[in-house]
Amino acid sequence: MSERTLAIIKPDAVKKNAIGDIVSRYEKAGLKPVAMKLMHMSKRTAEGFYAVHKARPFFDSLCSFMSSGPSLVLVLQGDNAIKKNRDLMGATDPAKADAGTIRKVHGTNIEFNAVHGSDSPETAAFEIGYFFPGMEIFG
Ligand code: CMP
Repeated sequence: MSERTLAIIKPDAVKKNAIGDIVSRYEKAGLKPVAMKLMHMSKRTAEGFYAVHKARPFFDSLCSFMSSGPSLVLVLQGDNAIKKNRDLMGATDPAKADAGTIRKVHGTNIEFNAVHGSDSPETAAFEIGYFFPGMEIFG
């Protein structure tokens, strides 16, 4: 079933010039970018995006990291896009991620982990709507 997911190539990966490699992995896996923008999030924008993690001890540090430089924010569309993207990313902690996954290759640690991907249809709907109005999605 074709679905959409939100992906973020985080500031650590953008800084390392890994945008091309990561977008190429999406495309080769059948995940088509149907919207994307390079944006330097404000801390407030990061806090709103990660609101579900507000009570976690890493929340403030995560939001500082996410507003430390530009990120590439994308909507990916394809069959089973949410799971497919999570498989491509690997585990949240790069140390635990399978060999060859994006986080294993480009991540540094559990916080600076190169990419984000929606984890369910409900979060995908919230996250896509957070960054993109319907008229900016070309699916
Ligand atoms: P992401 O998939 O974007 O979702 C929430 C983010 O919080 C996660 O990737 C990591 O960047 C970060 N994160 C999750 N767990 C921890 C942790 N234990 N310590 C620091 N950062 C974390």
